[in-house]
Amino acid sequence: MRLSSGLGAARPLVLCVLAAAGAAAHAQVNDATYEAGKALFLKATPACAICHTLKDAGAEGAIGPVLDELRPDAARVAKALRDGLGSMPSYRATLSEAQIAALARYVAKASNGAP
Ligand code: HEC
Repeated sequence: MRLSSGLGAARPLVLCVLAAAGAAAHAQVNDATYEAGKALFLKATPACAICHTLKDAGAEGAIGPVLDELRPDAARVAKALRDGLGSMPSYRATLSEAQIAALARYVAKASNGAP
């Protein structure tokens, strides 16, 4: 699925993702950016979850580093998303800057990295 629109359009996705994952109410569920970032983590093409483990997203990918252990800050995530890294693809062509920012904030927060 191509996610080229803004964060607003990602919101219905969040509901699907939450319902599909049977996710329990999360303390940060009210933060729209956090929700959008989480949805993108699972739905970007290719999905981060395929390659990365991140407990908060229920992701258990084993190709890239375990994000719960790496605990990257948002700037580090955003850089990897824009430029790609090793076998990780760049998302510059498929995600908007707003989506990259939401993902970066989400990964930093969910892994307890610096915002
Ligand atoms: C095809 C597998 C794959 C996908 C999909 C993928 N990654 Fe990665 N990612 C990797 C690999 C492999 C590395 C380690 C690259 C290296 O250090 O050479 C990595 C590294 C990273 C890093 C660490 C960057 C650093 O500075 O060390 C972050 C953060 C990250 N990925 C986040 C994400 C996010 C968020 C997504 C989804 C938008 C994503 N990745 C999608 C494979 C993937």
